[in-house]
Amino acid sequence: MWNHVCMNFPDLQINGRAGGSRYLRLAEALAAAVACGDLPLGVRLPSERDLAARLGVSRTTVASAYREIESRGLVRGHVGRGTFVCAGPEGDEAPFAWRGKLARGALRSLDPTLGHLMSWASNPEVISFAAGVPALDRFPTELFAQLTAEILRTNPAAALGHGPSEGQPRLRAAIARRFGVPRERVLVLTGAQQGLDLVARCMLDPGDAVVMDRPGYLGAIQAFRAAGAHVVGWDVLRADMGELEDLLLRYRPKLIYTNPSFQNPTGRTLPLPERQELLALAARYRTAVIEDGTYEELYFTKPPPPPLYHLDRRGVVIHVGSFSKMLAPGLRLGWLVAAEAIVGQLALVKQRTDAQTANLGQLVVAELIGGGRLDEHVRLLRAEHARRLAAMEAELERALPQRSLSYIRPEGGMYLWCRLPARMLARDLLERAIGAGIAFVNGDAFYTEDGGSGELRLCFAGVPAETIRAGVRKLAAVWEPEMGATSRVAAGVAPVV
Ligand SMILES: Cc1ncc(COP(=O)(O)O)c(C=O)c1O
Repeated sequence: MWNHVCMNFPDLQINGRAGGSRYLRLAEALAAAVACGDLPLGVRLPSERDLAARLGVSRTTVASAYREIESRGLVRGHVGRGTFVCAGPEGDEAPFAWRGKLARGALRSLDPTLGHLMSWASNPEVISFAAGVPALDRFPTELFAQLTAEILRTNPAAALGHGPSEGQPRLRAAIARRFGVPRERVLVLTGAQQGLDLVARCMLDPGDAVVMDRPGYLGAIQAFRAAGAHVVGWDVLRADMGELEDLLLRYRPKLIYTNPSFQNPTGRTLPLPERQELLALAARYRTAVIEDGTYEELYFTKPPPPPLYHLDRRGVVIHVGSFSKMLAPGLRLGWLVAAEAIVGQLALVKQRTDAQTANLGQLVVAELIGGGRLDEHVRLLRAEHARRLAAMEAELERALPQRSLSYIRPEGGMYLWCRLPARMLARDLLERAIGAGIAFVNGDAFYTEDGGSGELRLCFAGVPAETIRAGVRKLAAVWEPEMGATSRVAAGVAPVV
């Protein structure tokens, strides 16, 4: 649609009796041509120079006329490609054409998947295996309320006044002690997603390459894309270091982004030798590494290898963490650890949209960490999430047709990454599932390029075992008709590793 030039450019009458300046008369003539369909949607207008020569007017007149109709939302200019008709004319009653005013960066953020995940998760009619939430029904509500009241009573100034952009000193100190770094290297975030966005804004120029997990966390894909980066996938399940080196050589990325423990969405954990090799490659090719450690404490029995941040001897790693999965996503609290200079720069970028993370939550969580209550809660979650995974596995086995779904059994985290039988599409299944009140995430949302149409992600952590069983039975009910059209022997309701 965006590629053809208008072959029969209409005869524009700009010298008639209509008053106003010449560029306005030209703008009116162009708008009229759009209105009557002489300039249809998607057509490319002649270059300013060509039209000026054709009409015998100055190039400035044409440029001003193009700007005028762009401001009315009728055309849109793309640098290096030309000016295209993008909308029909509007009557006086039509709402203001906001879309025509959007910045290029905003137009790169069009994927609605995250929004869907959050609305399904908060809809009581839907059993959601979609959004990544921990066992919120086990949240220490009483303790949290008690600490909140205590802080408001004893330290209202810290709770209610302004605070430093880098974060409340008590929380920075608590995170620093827990993670084993100096306090100056900690930046408190309004969620880990903010950290990814800040790093993207701070480090990426349009056109820079980023190599990231494939499939990988879709919030990271969105943050890097919005910064204008060229996002290149590295196959995380194969974790082939030769492939990673090829990508570094070919694309010379500024950043590698990886989620090495209980990865979202696959649940896989990068073994120690590969972690060391990744760091060696990053140092050799002078590429910064963003380590997303969101799930690393949520192992079932055995902790993952040490974070890349602690294995790194050269200082190439920025580590991002979150309290969303260890406590609750609604707290909107995360942190990052990086070299002091980077922390200062990121804090300056943060100030542009979020002068500081809300104080009250920071102060409560600092207390939870200090009193050892966070660790206690995380231990509880490990056991509870493992039970929920077992319930999901057992019900999938029981309710779905034999040999219909394969998945990787994770050793922690919150997700079951599943492969559908050949020819079955996750998007089709999702449509039926939503109709039946059950949600999951279609696999293609996690791919930067093509891929994932036959894969899906189920979050097993967020709902109690009984609800998991009911949800899987609902999924099975919409699965049956789907299966009729496909082979029944494609994979297996069984872990593949
Ligand atoms: C890998 C990963 N990183 C970051 C986030 C965002 O976390 P937060 O809620 O702290 O912004 C998520 C949330 O699902 C995630 O899965």
